[in-house]
Amino acid sequence: MNSLPIGIFDSGVGGLTVLRELRRLLPAEHLIYLGDTARVPYGNKSHATVTRYALEDVQFLLSRGVKMIVIACNTASAIAAPTLREQFPDIPILGMIGPGSRAAHAATRNGKIGVIATAGTIGSGAYEARIRATFAASGGAPVEIHGQACPLFVPLVEEGETDSAITRLVAEKYLAHLREAGIDALVLGCTHYPLLKKVIAETMGPGVTLVDSAGAAAAETAALLESRSLLHPDGDRTPPHIGLNHFYVTDAAARFHGIAESFLGHRVERLDLAELGPGL
Ligand code: DGL
Repeated sequence: MNSLPIGIFDSGVGGLTVLRELRRLLPAEHLIYLGDTARVPYGNKSHATVTRYALEDVQFLLSRGVKMIVIACNTASAIAAPTLREQFPDIPILGMIGPGSRAAHAATRNGKIGVIATAGTIGSGAYEARIRATFAASGGAPVEIHGQACPLFVPLVEEGETDSAITRLVAEKYLAHLREAGIDALVLGCTHYPLLKKVIAETMGPGVTLVDSAGAAAAETAALLESRSLLHPDGDRTPPHIGLNHFYVTDAAARFHGIAESFLGHRVERLDLAELGPGL
C-alpha cells in the first residue's frame, strides 16, 4: 500500500505547481498526474459540470491504483470536494481550500485577508467559509475577507506573459482595491498564480504576504500520509529513492509538454506522458 502512487488532478497544466511542491517535499513518492486539457478551463463552468468532470478525474486516478488523491485544481476543490469525499469515502482526498485557508490564518497579523482565484472559486464562497471557520476554531479573532476573481490571469500565464507590461496592468486592475483595503495576506487561490508571484508582490507592496496554496497543500499531503502511516517506505533512505512521475492528459500532449517546464520550474528532458480521450 505505502509504495502506491499519489494521484493528482487538475483542469490542465496548472496543477504542476502542486506536483512541483510535492516532488520537492516527498522525493520517494510515485506521482500520477492527470491534466484534463480537453475540458480546461474549469474556472468559468457551472457547479454541475465541474463536479461531473472531477468525478471522472478521480475515477481515472483510482483505476491506476493510487493511495490518495490531491485535488490540485482550486476550482474543483472549491466546488466538488464534498461530493468527491462522499462518493469515495475509502480514500484520503485533499483539496486546496483547507491548506490555503490555514496558511492564510497563520500569515495574517491584522486579520485582513485577500483571496484571488477563478470566478468559480470566488463565486463558491469556499475560501471565505473555510477561513472564517479556521478563525472561529482558533479563538474567534475578527477577520475581514476580500475576494477577487481574476479571470485574465490564467490565459496570461499560459501565454507566457508572467512578467510583462500587460500583466502589470491587469494586476493593477484586479488588485488595487485589495491594496487599498489594507490586507496583509493574499491567498493565491489558483494553480496558475504562483507563476505571477513577482508581479503580484510588486503590485501589492512589501507589507503583504503572498500565501501559496500549492505549497500549503503539499505540506499537508506529507502530514496526512505520515499520520496514516502511508509514506513510501524508501523515504527514510539517504538519499531517498526518487519516485516516478507519470503524466496523463485528455488532449494536446505536445502543448502540455511545451508549457510544463515553466510550471515545474526546471527543464524536463523527458515527460512520461500519455494522451487519453476527453471523458477519459
Ligand atoms: N486550475 C484552475 C484553478 O486552480 C485554473 C484553471 C481553470 O480555470 O481551469 O482554479
